[in-house]
Formats: sequence, C-alpha cells, structure tokens
Amino acid sequence: MKIKKAVLPVAGLGTRFLPATKAIPKEMLTIVDRPTIQYIVEEVVASGIREIVFITAAGKSAIENHFDYSFELETFLAQKGKLDLLREVRGISRLIDLVSVRQKEPLGLGHAVKASEPVVGNQPFAVLLGDDLVDSDVPCAYQMLKIFDEYEESIVAVQRVPQEETHQYGIVEAVEVAPGLHKVEKLIEKPKRGVTKSNLAIIGRYVLRPEIYSCLSRTLPGIGGEIQLTDALNILCKERTIYAYEFQGKRFDAGDKLGYLKATVEYALAHPEVGSSFKKYLQNLIKQIEG
Ligand code: UTP
Repeated sequence: MKIKKAVLPVAGLGTRFLPATKAIPKEMLTIVDRPTIQYIVEEVVASGIREIVFITAAGKSAIENHFDYSFELETFLAQKGKLDLLREVRGISRLIDLVSVRQKEPLGLGHAVKASEPVVGNQPFAVLLGDDLVDSDVPCAYQMLKIFDEYEESIVAVQRVPQEETHQYGIVEAVEVAPGLHKVEKLIEKPKRGVTKSNLAIIGRYVLRPEIYSCLSRTLPGIGGEIQLTDALNILCKERTIYAYEFQGKRFDAGDKLGYLKATVEYALAHPEVGSSFKKYLQNLIKQIEG
C-alpha cells in the first residue's frame, strides 16, 4: 500500500501568535527565508509524496498563492536575468499537485482531517501539521512511511517530554515492541496532572489508515469543544493496531512564540548563506550578555 497523499491542515486561527496572525496565516510566518509551510511541503516532497491536500479556511489564500505559478514574478525575474531567484521561486511548486479543501469552521484538528475524506477516499495517507517543523537528516515523514511499509497500520510520531509539560500534548500509553516503536494502548488529549504516567507526546506527523474517517464520525467534541484527532485515534486503537514512533530529529512548534524563535535561531545557524556570520553574531551577543 503506497501512500500517495499528504494532508496538511492549515485552517487554525493561530491565536497563540496574535496579533501577527490577524491578517497573515501563521503558516506563512518566515523562518529565515521561507515560510514555515514551505519547509513542511519540502519534507513531503523529500519523502516521495507529491499529492498535497491543504485543509484551509478564509484568510489563508496566501498559502495557496505561495505554491502557485506567478506569471508576473517569473517573467520579471527572467527579464532581469535573476535566474537563481527564478529557480528558487519555481522550485517546489513544480513538484507538487495541490488540492485545497475548505474547513468551514475551525472545529478542531480532527474535524479538519475529516474534511479531507472526499479527496483522499479509501486509502492511507500522511498528515503533517502546518506549524510543526522537524529538522532531521532523514525526513520525519519518510521515516514513518518506511514503518508503514512494514506494518501497514496507523502511526503517530512521538517524542518524550518532561512530565510537567504532558498537559500540553496528546499523550500515548504504549508498550515498546521494537527500539523506538511502541504499540499504543490508549491516547489521551492534554491529560490533567496525575492522569497518566506516560510522557510520550504526539507531535504533528501521522500516517493514517482510512478507517480513521469512520472513527472521526463517531468522535464527540472533546477538550476545548473541538473534535480532537487524538480522541478519534483512541477509538481506532480499540479496533486496529496503532503504533507510536519515536522519530529521529528535532521538532519545533513554530505555532508558539518561543518555539518559533528557537526554530529561527537553529535554522539560521544551519543556513548556507547566513549561518557562519549569524554564529559569530550570536557568540558576540552571548559575550555581551554575560560580560
Ligand atoms: P493548533 O491548535 O496548533 O492551531 O493546531 P491553531 O488552532 O491555529 O493555533 P492556536 O492554538 O489558536 O494558536 C494544529 C494544526 O491544525 C490546524 C492548524 O492550522 C495547525 O496547523 N487546525 C487546527 C485546523 O486546520 N483546523 C482546526 O480547526 C484546528
């Protein structure tokens, strides 16, 4: 079963990043020289998937425009002989087939994923959240597709978090069946303190079997009155096996101010053009702060 489609929910309101996100989608906020969503689309493409389904909302058209053909811009760059920039602008858009589906109301991540059903149909698919970045040698989605090839069951990407932060995540209780691979027994969205001993937190990467759609239809509003994907996975987990996979790489929550700043600094340090000067700048800054 080959995974051909990736669903990228980008319909959220981005309230943690207001007022920046009043008129600009948070997925379009720039990390060094490209919007967050471009890094995610690049991960999808590097993982061998080229059909992308954006779950969007009103006010998010900048995302679709970013991946669209821009006649004026390309003609201008070609006429000016700015061929490097032309290649950069054309780059990724030419490698993907895009479909957008509107989520009419922001009723939660589960509700957003359910909106992809008419396009995805009865086939497994990947889900990558539009504000979760994973910096890794092997793309995180690719790591998960390899596991899906072997097990053909749904997979959630997890990382261990400090106990005092578990209430911010979907948490899985699971049994390790191979190094870094766990068979899920239960999933709990944003558990209150003391509800679970597990610290395996779900991050924004999933590979899902199509049975998730029927589970989503049976999922009632949960935390925050939203249809939670975690709650639907908890239903699926009683009907089929789900695996939790501790991915190799470093994850940044770019939808959160601090996470966004950390991503900006680390991606800037690794950037071929500005990396070494930025490092010198930071070293001097640290001396100033400490001195
Ligand atoms: P978040 O909870 O991080 O996004 O959802 P949000 O609701 O936009 O952010 P805050 O908490 O108000 O700041 C994770 C992902 O799911 C999408 C978001 O766009 C984000 O990429 N999402 C969330 C939807 O597509 N629809 C929703 O109803 C909720």
